[in-house]
Amino acid sequence: MLKVEHLSVWYDVTEVIRDVTFEVPENDVVALLGGNGAGKTTILNTLSGLLAPRAGTITVDGNVVKGWHPQTIVKAGMVQVPQGRFVWPGMSVEDNLALGAITRPRSDREAIAADMDEVFDMFPVLKERRRGFAASLSGGEQQMLAIGRALMARPRLLLMDEPSHGLSPLMVRQMVVAIRRLHERGMTILLVEQNVGVAAAVSKLAYVLVNGEIEFSTPGAELADNPDILRSYLGGGRY
Ligand SMILES: Nc1ncnc2c1ncn2[C@@H]1O[C@H](COP(=O)(O)OP(=O)(O)OP(=O)(O)O)[C@@H](O)[C@H]1O
Ligand SMILES: [Mg+2]
Repeated sequence: MLKVEHLSVWYDVTEVIRDVTFEVPENDVVALLGGNGAGKTTILNTLSGLLAPRAGTITVDGNVVKGWHPQTIVKAGMVQVPQGRFVWPGMSVEDNLALGAITRPRSDREAIAADMDEVFDMFPVLKERRRGFAASLSGGEQQMLAIGRALMARPRLLLMDEPSHGLSPLMVRQMVVAIRRLHERGMTILLVEQNVGVAAAVSKLAYVLVNGEIEFSTPGAELADNPDILRSYLGGGRY
């Protein structure tokens, strides 16, 4: 569904992503693991059209994504859940979710309402707090809201940037359950993580990014068996 080939991204005079090639097949969960500053967010921002690559190709459903506006990419079904559970703190939970559907036509109103119900079904706490400010949610709840908001755009491919970061162990477990549930519902997911345990629990294949380059890839199930290699530059063990 997503193919990234020989991607190179620069900030000014620095090459941050070097010759990166990977693939996310339809209905799979693929993990992109790497330590702080490895270039994970830069890759996601490039996929979302927020940064322009210096070289390489990005292909979605066989279409080369080049010079597309971020909104066009969202409409094509690729939607990012930004790092740091970025939500609009002074707006209600409901309004945050509604904004996720902003690229959809008004005629979609009924479907949008149904999708919000589905988000509430997946994350009941958001339903309970629907009229409260996003700022009043806990970190884990805000992460759920950020995911819910991305779901409101009806993605087929979800780009998740460190959804487990900064969450309590209990919340991390809930996050794993949520990712599995999305996968069972047919979502394709590119999961950026530093937490090897989370990636091992949900991903079919994991790519390891070091200093802007893919060092190796491994089946997700085997990640948990070789934590020694990974612990040297990644945080965490089993979640
Ligand atoms: N706007 C920018 N201008 C210049 N350099 C940047 C910019 N944003 C990020 N970088 C640098 O690019 C590199 C990759 O950063 P990126 O944010 O993609 O890493 P990351 O893997 O997402 O890290 P983290 O796990 O901390 O979120 C880092 O060296 C970072 O300092
Ligand atoms: Mg990042």
